Amino acid sequence: MPSSPLRFGLIGTGRIGQVHAASIAADPDATLAWVADPFVDGARQVAAQFGGEATDTADDLFVPGRVDAILVASPTPTHVDLIARSVEAGLPVLCEKPIDLDIARVEALRSTVASAGVPVALGFNRRFDPAFAEARARLAAGEIGALEQLTIISRDPAAPPASYIAVSGGIFRDMTIHDFDMARFFLGDIVEVQATGSTTFDPGAREHGDYDTAVTVLRAASGAVATIINSRHSTVGYDQRIEVFGSTGTLDVGNQGTSLVRVSNTSGVDTHRPFESAMVTRYTPSYRAELREFISLVRGGASTSPSFDDGRAALLLADAAQRSAEERVVVAVDLS
Ligand SMILES: NC(=O)c1ccc[n+]([C@@H]2O[C@H](COP(=O)([O-])OP(=O)(O)OC[C@H]3O[C@@H](n4cnc5c(N)ncnc54)[C@H](O)[C@@H]3O)[C@@H](O)[C@H]2O)c1
Repeated sequence: MPSSPLRFGLIGTGRIGQVHAASIAADPDATLAWVADPFVDGARQVAAQFGGEATDTADDLFVPGRVDAILVASPTPTHVDLIARSVEAGLPVLCEKPIDLDIARVEALRSTVASAGVPVALGFNRRFDPAFAEARARLAAGEIGALEQLTIISRDPAAPPASYIAVSGGIFRDMTIHDFDMARFFLGDIVEVQATGSTTFDPGAREHGDYDTAVTVLRAASGAVATIINSRHSTVGYDQRIEVFGSTGTLDVGNQGTSLVRVSNTSGVDTHRPFESAMVTRYTPSYRAELREFISLVRGGASTSPSFDDGRAALLLADAAQRSAEERVVVAVDLS
């Protein structure tokens, strides 16, 4: 007998909360049951558009019997408490990245999560990007031999406001964290981190002692090396590329254009259209696939959802990169 759709409680209805609400509404095996946000008008708007009851407090979602799973899309400082409440209530939880900005708080929660027996997944959606996932699968299938180098270029279209930089935890914990997870997705265990950061254009980054430009080099236990190139801005749009260099070939994932139509004439060959410039449009398929994988995890099926420990490892790498950039040292890491 087919089971009824999983009833989700969504916490946070800002930028990414709205993306998740749309994914839940689009999935035949999910339904939006409750939506919580202290900015209750936001919760009401999302509930009106995608379904569910709106409330101004997450407490309402933890009333027994109301939801089958929790999706945390509220600001980072709320994540640890909400993961803890979810597992205590026996509710599977998909939580946005990062788990927290303070590794001590993550470590304090680790054993609770490990012994809870409740699925906890982290929102590293880029693992589910169809092109990145295909590159990973083709590497695993042996198409380019053994992995030797990975290059990740990850530049946002525009820098966030200074007020966001102030609470972001810095470029490595806020932005590169996705790339640290992507590097682990391809390279496996990482043992060494070297990073440099610079402030080239953004007054907000300068004001808050952050970098707007960063390059990180990771060494894997296998000996393979990853280079991650970040900028908080990119005039060409959302610059999201990967090159996987192997012993017998290379896999390239280029930027996603906004048009598939190419014009050819005497002045050249081009689409004359820019690359995607919004997180939502560039990564929509990955958010949808991330949700499907989480549902599979909850249903007890095979799942590749990033775990709590994947979230912990990415934060450890971010902390190491921050230290490396500040102190200009190579940092050995043990992610076990
Ligand atoms: N995976 C991704 O691609 C991605 C993209 C953006 C943001 N994020 C992460 O998602 C989280 C949210 O980011 P955002 O950009 O959507 O932020 P946002 O500021 O746009 O939205 C956050 C929402 O949470 C609400 N909120 C605040 N405290 C709350 C609480 N205690 N309970 C419930 N709701 C609460 C706010 O009122 C707001 O509506 C952050 O941790 C961020 O790092 C991930």
